[in-house]
Amino acid sequence: MSNPGKYYLTTPIYYVNARPHIGHAYTTIVADVIARRKRALGFDTRFLTGTDEHGQKIERSARQAGIAPQQFTDTVAAEFKGLWDRMGLSYDDFIRTTEPRHKRAVQKFFTLLKERGYIYKGTYTGQYCVFDELYVDAPPGSPCPDCGRITETVSEENYFFKLSAFERKLLEFYDRNPDFIRPETRRNEVISFVRSGLRDLSVSRTSFKWGIPVPDDEKHVIYVWLDALANYITALGWGSDDAKERARFEKFWPADLHIIGKEISRFHCVYWPAFLMAAGLPLPKSIVAHGWLLFEESKMSKSRGNIVRAETILEVLGADALRYFLLREIVFGQDGSFSFDALVQRYNSDLANGYGNLASRTLAMIQRYFDGTVPGAAACDPGLCQDAADYIAQFGKEFEALNFSRAIETLWSYIAAVDGFLTARAPWKTHGDVSEEDLKQYRADVLYTAAEAIRIITALVCPILPDAAAKVWSQLGLGDIRKADLRNIQWGGLQPGTKLGELGPVFPRAEKDAITRMQELEQKNNAQKPEEQNPTIGPAPAEAKGVEAAAGQVAPHAQANEKISIDDFMKVELRVAQIKVAERVPKADKLLRLEVDLGYEQRQILAGIAEAYEPESLIGRKVVIVANLAPRKLRGLESNGMIVAASLDEKGKPVLAGFLEEVEIGARLK
Ligand code: MSP
Repeated sequence: MSNPGKYYLTTPIYYVNARPHIGHAYTTIVADVIARRKRALGFDTRFLTGTDEHGQKIERSARQAGIAPQQFTDTVAAEFKGLWDRMGLSYDDFIRTTEPRHKRAVQKFFTLLKERGYIYKGTYTGQYCVFDELYVDAPPGSPCPDCGRITETVSEENYFFKLSAFERKLLEFYDRNPDFIRPETRRNEVISFVRSGLRDLSVSRTSFKWGIPVPDDEKHVIYVWLDALANYITALGWGSDDAKERARFEKFWPADLHIIGKEISRFHCVYWPAFLMAAGLPLPKSIVAHGWLLFEESKMSKSRGNIVRAETILEVLGADALRYFLLREIVFGQDGSFSFDALVQRYNSDLANGYGNLASRTLAMIQRYFDGTVPGAAACDPGLCQDAADYIAQFGKEFEALNFSRAIETLWSYIAAVDGFLTARAPWKTHGDVSEEDLKQYRADVLYTAAEAIRIITALVCPILPDAAAKVWSQLGLGDIRKADLRNIQWGGLQPGTKLGELGPVFPRAEKDAITRMQELEQKNNAQKPEEQNPTIGPAPAEAKGVEAAAGQVAPHAQANEKISIDDFMKVELRVAQIKVAERVPKADKLLRLEVDLGYEQRQILAGIAEAYEPESLIGRKVVIVANLAPRKLRGLESNGMIVAASLDEKGKPVLAGFLEEVEIGARLK
């Protein structure tokens, strides 16, 4: 069989200021599933993950925790790695940006970009908070977002990357490589961001120390995103002095797939390719951005305090249950909700009653009627044996297109077909006065067919449910699935005469109290670690009401005399956006569906302003939106942000906020 070649895939490297949760696990599980399938297909696969450990954010978290940054990052990085190991994630390398191999190579990368004329020293003129030693991206006279003191205007030397030189090159590249950014919505956002013009990027900082020093100019540290993105090549050995390491880079680069969350598309699809072009290195083949895992209606994240830990699910239902749920329930590329109810329901219906039960009952009958030896079949059911090739092909096609949910549906329709076949043929019955010999052959035909179908299902599902697949494979008498050749799965591979392995349950039904157990585990964990429950402007009742009703609130109502800090205010990202599309939402008198342009992305917002504004009158109007509000669904449509309006009279008539002067789209209000 010909060698299909190499496959290099990566996850983002995770910030170590927060402990891992199932949002991080989601990306890593998806990468793991792809890596396992590629290995099964014979690709020489390399799967990289790791942690992003530099920058001001981490420095501060360490300070807050009262420990040195290195010690702080060592602890959290170990948690990520430990959890990935516990979940059996099959990464080939785990890079930490504080490792010498990375730091050395990043400095070389920086020097290379400089030597090639793409990094220059320029002067940064802007606002500076002396108290906090912090640059503030704001007009003169603005307060510091940290302490509220008025900033001073300073001029300082900084290193800049000539991002502006890549505008046309990037657009041409996107044009020539339509699959470079997936899905289409993210591709369009990125293209419109680049089209709106690229400014040179500051790639060094002097206001804090926790970073990789700029070579020969150590008062600067390298911008954390330049440092972090380079991990994809430094982990392969780019820039190493060791020839063997460099050979690995030659072999695996360019990456076949970078998997990322949608919020970091710009860094991966604009900055990263521009850095690589500047360095004269090949670009990754594809970047795919998935959606967010939502919990209680908003993006799961530490700052919102709405995280669920993977450990809880591992403890109660096992890693396969989490893998299955995330891949089956969430349409890859879109946002999806997590709930303990839905998890347990999927587990019971698809795993315990579906695949697990099918395997157990088939194998138990082979045990009973054939003394644990796979019988030979004289005939097979065309719907299962001839159609197997179609199921296999369909599964592969959907998987290849990263439609995991549909790939799984395909496989589970095969499971349902085998289940239905067993029930209809009822090999446990005696079937009237057929002879002993005929009954035996009848049972052999039915049970061989079911067992062979299970073998095929198991081989295909293995990347998704590695633990369960390993169990079923060995119960089928086929030994260690990790050693099996799964490259060319087709009907007939199961040899009659194979002695079954030791039988046992694959997915025991979830206990009645599984949901409460998981909830209690989470509560217990939160109670132990109060720092995880950061106060934030989270989804509070007033915010939830905003777009639907008056569309007037920016943040939850503060209590009458309660003051918020400047920090709290800065959490609300207010931006100027231009309305491109406005239309009524059928059967919702108050709602308008708007598409607004933020310069760097286009998004949909539902606003409760239909009684005050005609949709046509809004086109082209510049409005203020809350840009970092977690998306939510209204009337089945996603609303991604909120329009700011004054709320007049007792009816709360909305009047949209706007500007007298000309303002740039995307500008932040602060
Ligand atoms: N350190 C940067 C990435 C640098 S890559 C060169 C970073 N880290 S992060 O820890 O904030 O998040 C990284 C990724 O974690 C997201 O892009 C996404 O893949 C995953 N997720 C974190 N929370 C998530 C959800 N709630 N839902 C889905 N994925 C989530 O950004």
